[in-house]
Amino acid sequence: MGGLLPLCAAALLLLLLAAGGAIPPPEEAARMARFVLHNCDWGALATLSAQEGLRGRPFANIFSLSDGPPGPFSGSGVPYLYLTDMEISVQDLEINSNASLTVSLAQTPYCKKHRYDPQNPLCAHIIFCGSIVKVNDSEAGLAKKALFSRHPEMESWPKDHNWFFAKFNITNIWVLDYFGGLKIVTPEEYYSVKP
Ligand SMILES: *[C@@H]1O[C@H](CO)[C@@H](O)[C@H](O)[C@H]1NC(C)=O
Ligand SMILES: *[C@@H]1O[C@H](CO)[C@@H](O)[C@H](O)[C@H]1NC(C)=O
Ligand SMILES: *[C@@H]1O[C@H](CO)[C@@H](O)[C@H](O)[C@H]1NC(C)=O
Repeated sequence: MGGLLPLCAAALLLLLLAAGGAIPPPEEAARMARFVLHNCDWGALATLSAQEGLRGRPFANIFSLSDGPPGPFSGSGVPYLYLTDMEISVQDLEINSNASLTVSLAQTPYCKKHRYDPQNPLCAHIIFCGSIVKVNDSEAGLAKKALFSRHPEMESWPKDHNWFFAKFNITNIWVLDYFGGLKIVTPEEYYSVKP
């Protein structure tokens, strides 16, 4: 009997850990942005095309990302990416590093469980604007841990493709998590909030 309560608490903690923590209330937009990014393994990255015949036009592509190992309290808020110059969007970025990144809880069980359509704001999605920058050697360790813990396949990607670690340098953040329009969060609010 006495052992039952701690057991329930432990089970609840495990559930929360598995779910990556509970979703923040919609009025806490900065926390919501951090929560959605941390619970996403990939996002749509839009670049300005440098391709022949498409120059200057928007080009959206899928990229694996991570802001830290899975589980609550391990997210840095920094979207890290693993890139190669051979990739078509990365070739765009070499001409113009400006980009937009969108992540959505539609890729997690959350929206399906609540039957929220991906376009429903309650299926929270975050739009980042900024640029892609290579990370320096000291930050590359963090990026590697963040990415390889969630995307183990990356370790075996062809060595001769010259993969490098990069991050999304966030300048603007829009949060869509409720009715009544987009909410603006500054990078300062985003990085200083306790997720
Ligand atoms: C990237 O966006 C910034 C901010 O709008 C702008 O000042 C800069 O000129 C853009 N870079 C290029 C290469 O277009
Ligand atoms: C590497 O980048 C990080 C994050 O931008 C910065 O804090 C750090 O000072 C840089 N380290 C070196 C050696 O430049
Ligand atoms: C990130 O973007 C801002 C605004 O464009 C720029 O001032 C800053 O130098 C960029 N940071 C890096 C590491 O490139």
